[in-house]
Amino acid sequence: MVAATGARIGWDELPAVVRQAVEEIVGATVIAAESQHGGFSPGVAARLRAENGRRAFVKAVSPDQNDESPGLHRREARVSAALPPEAPAPRFLGSYDDGHWIALVLEDVEGRHPQTPWIRDELEAVLRTLDGLARAGTPCPVPDLPQASAALADDFRGWDRVAANPPADLDPWVAANLDWLREQSRRGLAAMDGVTLVHFDIRADNLLLDEHRRRHGEDERRRAQVPGRRPLRVYRNRESAEGGSAATTGHSAHCAP
Ligand SMILES: Nc1ncnc2c1ncn2[C@@H]1O[C@H](COP(=O)(O)OP(=O)(O)OP(=O)(O)O)[C@@H](O)[C@H]1O
Ligand SMILES: [Mg+2]
Repeated sequence: MVAATGARIGWDELPAVVRQAVEEIVGATVIAAESQHGGFSPGVAARLRAENGRRAFVKAVSPDQNDESPGLHRREARVSAALPPEAPAPRFLGSYDDGHWIALVLEDVEGRHPQTPWIRDELEAVLRTLDGLARAGTPCPVPDLPQASAALADDFRGWDRVAANPPADLDPWVAANLDWLREQSRRGLAAMDGVTLVHFDIRADNLLLDEHRRRHGEDERRRAQVPGRRPLRVYRNRESAEGGSAATTGHSAHCAP
C-alpha cells in the first residue's frame, strides 16, 4: 500500500503543443499513456508508449493546476539533466518549457513501489540504492543547489520557539529537557551542510523496484530507482563521501527533533 496520492490530469488534457513537444523528444507519436498513481503533483505523470515501440515517462504541469508545481518541475528538470549516468535514477531525455507549461521526459522505468509497511529485502535494496545515489552525487553534480540546512532551518528551530514562548501546558519532560532538545536540533542542523546530493523526499511512492532486471537475472539483488527528483538538496555525509554504506536519508531522519 502506498497511500500518498493526489488528483492528476491526463495526457489527453495537455495542450496539443505540449504533446507534440514531448513526442519530438520521444521521437515518435504516442499511442498509449498510462497515468501513474502515487505522489502529489497535480499535472500529468504518465508512462507513454510510442508507435515505434519506444517508451518514456512524462511529467507536465502549468500554473493552472498549481502555482508552485511548475517551479518544482523546472528544478527537477535541471537536477535530472545534471545527474551522472551512474546515479540510480531515470535518465533525462529532454524537457519542454514555454513559460506556462513545463514538461519533463524521462526514461521509463518498469517497476513497482516498495510495499508499505516495509519489508526487509526491499528496504535493503532501497538503502543500497540510496548509498549509490550518495556516491554518484558526491561532489554534488548539480550547481547552485541550496543546502539542506537552509531548507530545514525553520523546522529545526522549533524548540527555540518553544523556549521563547513556552505554552502553558508544556509537557514536564520537554520543559526539563528543553536545553538538550535545542542543542540536539542545533547539532543536527550543523551536521547537514556538505557536498553530497540527497533526494530529500524518499518515500515508497518515490521509489521503483526494478523487477525486470531481477527476473532476467542481471542482478540477484533487487534494484531500486528513485523517480521524482524535485527535492534534491545537499548536505554533509561523511560516510558516503568516504564510500561507506550509509543511506542518505537516514541522516536527516536521525537529526529530526
Ligand atoms: N521514470 C519513471 N518511469 C516509470 N514510472 C515513473 C517514473 N517516474 C515516476 N514514475 C511513477 O509516477 C509516479 C509519480 O511520479 P513522481 O514521483 O515523479 O511525481 P509526483 O509524486 O507527482 O511528484 P513528486 O514526487 O516530485 O512530488 C511515481 O510514484 C512512480 O510510480
Ligand atoms: Mg512522487
